[in-house]
Amino acid sequence: MTSLTAPPRVPIPANGVDYRGKLVLAPMVRSGELPSRLLALRYGADLVWGPETIDRAMIGTTRRVNPRNGTIEFFRRPSNGGRPDRPIYDSVIYRIDPVREKGKLIYQIGTASPELAVEAAKIVAGDVAGIDVNSGCPKPFSTSGGMGAALLRTPDKLCAILEALVREVGTPFQIGISVKIRILAQPEETEQLVTRLVKTGITGLTVHCRTTPMRPREKAIRDQLRMVANVCHEAGVACVMNGDVTSREEGLALMEEFGVDGAMIATAAETNPSCFQTAVEGGLLPWRDVVHEYVRFCLESENRFGNTKYLLNMMIPGKNKEFKMAKNARSYWDCCHLLQFEDLLPLAEQVDQTLNIADRSVYKEEARNKAVQNALENNETARAAGGAPRSKPTSPVVAAAGGPIRTNSIPKPTAKPETTTTVETAPVPEQTTQQPELAA
Ligand SMILES: Cc1cc2nc3c(=O)[nH]c(=O)nc-3n(C[C@H](O)[C@H](O)[C@H](O)COP(=O)(O)O)c2cc1C
Repeated sequence: MTSLTAPPRVPIPANGVDYRGKLVLAPMVRSGELPSRLLALRYGADLVWGPETIDRAMIGTTRRVNPRNGTIEFFRRPSNGGRPDRPIYDSVIYRIDPVREKGKLIYQIGTASPELAVEAAKIVAGDVAGIDVNSGCPKPFSTSGGMGAALLRTPDKLCAILEALVREVGTPFQIGISVKIRILAQPEETEQLVTRLVKTGITGLTVHCRTTPMRPREKAIRDQLRMVANVCHEAGVACVMNGDVTSREEGLALMEEFGVDGAMIATAAETNPSCFQTAVEGGLLPWRDVVHEYVRFCLESENRFGNTKYLLNMMIPGKNKEFKMAKNARSYWDCCHLLQFEDLLPLAEQVDQTLNIADRSVYKEEARNKAVQNALENNETARAAGGAPRSKPTSPVVAAAGGPIRTNSIPKPTAKPETTTTVETAPVPEQTTQQPELAA
């Protein structure tokens, strides 16, 4: 008689999240900041990984709630180099939306030390649903410090990090600890490693189906996937696959084909996160719709403008004229103006002030001068035609006096005008205020 006992499953802690059945946004340095994560969630990502953040970068930060948008910011105040005349701007290391990311955000740590990993993870543990250890980054900045993919070659250290995190962060904060690895060249090596990792108390393991030397453009290798999934399942750990997944449908099909529990998308989501939508939900949307939403989230999050521009370059196809335009933007106002997102201009103006980048704007003055020019031309045309001006009605005071363009104050009607018909005496409703620059 065969046993009908269910396969084991490590328990998911009360504040944690099960990776099973999930299509998730991959951790991406630079491309995985808060606005990108919100956008992925908006289009249906089930969970989002934050960008790898090195333990030492987080240690020493202070937590605060941004009073303007309610986001949680972990920031540090840089020194002003002993120059009291120099303004100091806080440096936000990590930002979380506690409402929209609640129960869905996995914080990824870059570390090579159990002690530092625990110290850093404790800082954010109360605000996230899980902590993931990066054991796959092949970049020298990561591997040279023994972090990232270097940990694949030091399994004792990697296991010690995971065990320390489970014991000192996962258990007290009731969140899951997981790891993201790459496959090793030989399946036996990968199997040996995964067999050790799943015994550390982790709740999930993501496998990027490329070896460390492989370039991102090289096709993902799926030969080892089923074996990795089996080893995870025997220990009750959820297995997420990563590498060349480009849509929700494809992710679900691959999960089925290889018996894995979840799928993770990186580069396809970096370019167009609407890839998380099914075809029935609308599928892949045109870049303009996605970019509009992205810029809106950037404004709401007060995202660093340099980071926003970086992502815009990824999301706007290179051959479009807007690609070059976005490159030239120096502020959010410029950006919204150039992309013709008129509805976002008022917020862009506010955020530019908050981020101290308003004076960098190169298009604002130009646009304002153009508006004045247009107003003048409209008025001249109207006068010449003896008809009413095409834009806003003219102030009777200024018009009656045939006065100059006023730039210093808004003229007020002295009394309610009688019924009038000509341009010069066109009535102005009492509540109408005119832009001083436009009052001609
Ligand atoms: C811009 C960028 C940044 C990345 N940063 C990280 C990171 O911080 N941590 C990590 O584990 N992997 C990082 N990766 C790797 C991805 O998470 C993912 O494993 C890889 O791109 C393969 O997935 P894909 O084929 O869907 O692109 C990054 C990838 C890209 C493109």
